[in-house]
Order: sequence, then C-alpha cells, then structure tokens
Amino acid sequence: MNEWKKICLVNDIPLLGSRRVSRPQGMDVAVFRNSEDKVFALLDRCPHKGGPLSQGIVFGTSVACPLHNWKIGLCDGQASAPDEGCTPRFACKVEAGEVFLDAGELATLALDLLAPRAGPGASTGAVVDQTFAVQAPHSS
Ligand code: FES
Repeated sequence: MNEWKKICLVNDIPLLGSRRVSRPQGMDVAVFRNSEDKVFALLDRCPHKGGPLSQGIVFGTSVACPLHNWKIGLCDGQASAPDEGCTPRFACKVEAGEVFLDAGELATLALDLLAPRAGPGASTGAVVDQTFAVQAPHSS
C-alpha cells in the first residue's frame, strides 16, 4: 500500500519542464510535466553519464538529456535505442491538480546511485534536511 506524499501542484511544474525534489538520502528526483499536463518522476540522473535530466527538454513522453541528447522515456526511464540504459522511475499520481510521490520510494529507491563528481549533474552535497523539499522550477 502506497503512502502518498504531496509534492506540489501540477501548475508549479513548468510546462515541458521539471522540478527537483530533494530527499534526506540519495539523489534528487525530477518531476516532469509534458504538453498534455501528464506528470512523471525519474531519478535526476541520466543512465549514460549521470547528466541532470531535470535540465533536459521534455517532448511527448520523453526527456532529452542536456549533456549528450540521449532520449529517456518518462514512463519507464528507459533510454531509446540504439542507446541502452535505464534510470529509476518513481511512482507518482495527480489528484485534483496536486502531485503526489510515493513516500516509501522517496525514502528507499535508488539510494545507491551517486551523482557525478563534476559537471552539471554533480551533487552539491547540500541535502541534509529530513523532509522532502521541492527545488526551484526549471523550464526548458
Ligand atoms: S549523460 Fe545523458 S546523454 Fe550523456
């Protein structure tokens, strides 16, 4: 049984953009909004070399990584062929214009994946709060 955590309003996410949700442990989660107001959540880490997917361009049900333009499916985190790889997907739902993520997944999923040590996807190491914080919006 899922325990849903309210994250923000759909309208808080820029159209064709994303917001980052920091976690007490592990890398941020990127929450995306596409042109049909559908919302998706992936670990903010490209399966190629760890690029920040939250800074990518959303189109259809994919996001193009800002570093080397791999196309990552927002529904499943899979890289589009011929590229290979997958970034963890987080369950999310929208009710009455509010976005919810699974609190259990936020606390436990993909804690072993690390941010790159340098470059745009590098961790700031600043996440120390025990709550989930929504970062400033990013539009593409
Ligand atoms: S790091 Fe995303 S395409 Fe290379």
